[in-house]
Amino acid sequence: MSDIKKKSVLLIGGGGVGAIAALNLELGGLATVTVVLRSNFNAVNDKGYQIDSCDHGVVKNWKPSHVLNSVPNITTERLPPYDYIILTTKNCPDVPPSVASLVGPALPASNTHTVLVLIQNGLNIEKPFLASHPNTLVLSGVSLIGSAEPEHGVVVQEDKDRLLIGAFENPNISDEVKKTKAEEFVHIYGAGGKTDVKHSQNVEYDRWRKLVYNACLNPICAITGLDTGRIRLADGGVEGLVRPAMREIVEAAKKKGVDLGGDEVVDWMIEVDALELYLQPSMLMDVNKGNFIEFENLLGEPLREGQAIGVPMPTVQVLYQLAKAIQWRTKEKRGLVDIPKKKKAGE
Ligand SMILES: *[C@@H]1O[C@H](CO)[C@@H](O)[C@H](O)[C@H]1NC(C)=O
Ligand SMILES: *[C@@H]1O[C@H](CO)[C@@H](O)[C@H](O)[C@H]1NC(C)=O
Repeated sequence: MSDIKKKSVLLIGGGGVGAIAALNLELGGLATVTVVLRSNFNAVNDKGYQIDSCDHGVVKNWKPSHVLNSVPNITTERLPPYDYIILTTKNCPDVPPSVASLVGPALPASNTHTVLVLIQNGLNIEKPFLASHPNTLVLSGVSLIGSAEPEHGVVVQEDKDRLLIGAFENPNISDEVKKTKAEEFVHIYGAGGKTDVKHSQNVEYDRWRKLVYNACLNPICAITGLDTGRIRLADGGVEGLVRPAMREIVEAAKKKGVDLGGDEVVDWMIEVDALELYLQPSMLMDVNKGNFIEFENLLGEPLREGQAIGVPMPTVQVLYQLAKAIQWRTKEKRGLVDIPKKKKAGE
């Protein structure tokens, strides 16, 4: 009996990535998933997800076991702690609330039971949790999926789900526990057989490698308004912007002891999507939708890490400042900053 007891999973952020993660977990039969939604709550709660997926085919009106519109307070609701809490929200530490306070109601600071899984991009995303939840095991999820939610509750997955899971460093947790829990999660997530999920022993490598794309092509497309095909066609786009930025990231990683290879990884990342797909990377989509961008974890953290060990990163530095200005523009539109009133000329 006890070995078929399903794991309880709270998944926060059921957009394009989160919905497919929830589907994989429920499909495998080893987990009961509660999804916390915001903007798409009504759509999903009423009719479920409408999914068109290269891994799962067409799935109509699919609903996870439970759908909530806020993170439950497990103390007041007298709920047992979840086995896993997965975060698939965007991660913008410069825009409150912080991720640690978002999970707070379901994850007491003294937690030792619940494993947190961050399926989010960028560097140092586990650091806030080391401070707020020092005895919580945090797993890294590096996702290479192509999935979007063009309308509330409508999920279109065009590129296969590949997920690398590994434990972040935490001096309070033994390597044994880290390995066992990472492998357990991989087992539960992959049990449905429609995803390529692997245990990775080298989280740092996975994260830096993805940054070669995410700290470079992603913001460059967002800043210029060009998709990944057009930036390659644009005069000087690759040689003047993309390639220098990627080389700086590869160099910073190398100085940190993460060898991504030489220019092969740069060439590979530039050409990772066929030019004629004219793909919009996530940050460009966010800018076009008036959403905040994840520039601190994608650009700010690798820049600060590189600069701290003396790697010159002039291109990434400028990209970071431009992204920061774009973020400020969004903050003003959303009423999060006060500016002095406009004067008339001569006033
Ligand atoms: C959860 O509820 C308890 C009891 O009311 C309260 O003390 C605690 O602050 C709440 N937790 C969060 C994170 O809101
Ligand atoms: C966990 O680690 C933090 C430092 O990261 C330390 O301050 C704390 O005492 C540790 N707690 C336990 C129970 O080992």
